[in-house]
Amino acid sequence: MHKVGIIGTGDISAAYLRAARDLKLFEVAAITDLDTLRASARGEEFGVAVLDLPDLLNRSDLSAIVNLTPPAAHAGVSLDILRAGHHAYSEKPLAVTLEDARTLLAEAQLRGLRLGCAPDTFLGAGLQTVREAIDSGLIGRPVAATAFFMGSGPEAWHPNPAFFYQPGAGPLFDMGPYYLTALVNLLGPVVRVSGSAVRAFSERVAGHESRLGECIAVDTPTHVTAQLEFGAGMVGTFIASFDVPGSELPRIEIYGTSATISVPDPNTFGGPVRIRRLGSRTWEELPITRPYAENSRGIGLADLLSAADRGAPHRASGELAGHVLEIMHRTLESAEVGRPLAVESRPERPAALPPTPEWLEAGQLEGARA
Ligand SMILES: NC(=O)c1ccc[n+]([C@@H]2O[C@H](COP(=O)([O-])OP(=O)(O)OC[C@H]3O[C@@H](n4cnc5c(N)ncnc54)[C@H](O)[C@@H]3O)[C@@H](O)[C@H]2O)c1
Repeated sequence: MHKVGIIGTGDISAAYLRAARDLKLFEVAAITDLDTLRASARGEEFGVAVLDLPDLLNRSDLSAIVNLTPPAAHAGVSLDILRAGHHAYSEKPLAVTLEDARTLLAEAQLRGLRLGCAPDTFLGAGLQTVREAIDSGLIGRPVAATAFFMGSGPEAWHPNPAFFYQPGAGPLFDMGPYYLTALVNLLGPVVRVSGSAVRAFSERVAGHESRLGECIAVDTPTHVTAQLEFGAGMVGTFIASFDVPGSELPRIEIYGTSATISVPDPNTFGGPVRIRRLGSRTWEELPITRPYAENSRGIGLADLLSAADRGAPHRASGELAGHVLEIMHRTLESAEVGRPLAVESRPERPAALPPTPEWLEAGQLEGARA
């Protein structure tokens, strides 16, 4: 089994360590964090070795290193991982700036190493069932899409919420990757965007018990709308907000010439997947046809490791994440300049996941369905 390391042992590291333990697709051999106390606590919780950063980077038995630091540290840490000779798999977004994203992509290419990036929810049971439905023509020809992330902000529950209100986060960069990656996986790359952006508050107040009442400066837009034009001809509307007290809008819907498909929350791995056929007054629930309906953070990394072994492209790629980052940047730039802007990157649409993903060996599928 491949061994991997983790840099950054904050909130989300528990989900990766739990999925690694339960899914057994790779082994987390060592972890590190600038905050040694936090790293030690995680190491103890999951029975994993805790190392200093240079010792982790120098381990020769690691197939890849996972970067779970906050967005502002993503580029620097991923570059360190690549320069140490390891495949890098980063939490989203790939980097804060497009320049840093390009540097990472160039470094990985130069060294013949893999660069992967979350989210990998688009490889889960729900979104891959939607992918199969669309690819098989169940909704006819896709024409348009809507996607809505309508929230009131993470400061009520997150223990370290300040980074969510800095450039490189906000609702667009924090939650947009789930929605935009799902849309690009389903409909292909985006070629033009038009954006509008506002912020409701200049300060927010932390609610987690460890920071109760702390003031957080808001340095990025917190309600963003984007009009998306896909290269294949469809149009989309995406709204990402931390300014919404409550909403009844769906997560994602794709409108085809013969049916609408209701796409599950792209920040989850499961369903439900529903369609409403033209002329029908009711929604039908589709059977889920792919594995990984539970929280399976790390399957993008399992895919990367398996693809590297086979010499095949991996799906949660740096190119895909770089495209999503470009869509988000162009959206905010468009909001500033007041006109639509072209998106230049053109990643390959990731291959659809077969019913038994390539990274599973015979007999492992039952574990994936558990
Ligand atoms: N928390 C969530 O629910 C969630 C969900 C999905 C994705 N993410 C993403 O995961 C990443 C981490 O989020 P989080 O919520 O775990 O944040 P966090 O602040 O809880 O943890 C980040 C950790 O990284 C460490 N760190 C920062 N810079 C470092 C460096 N240079 N070297 C080593 N360690 C460093 C910090 O000390 C901290 O322990 C972010 O990119 C976020 O967007 C978070």
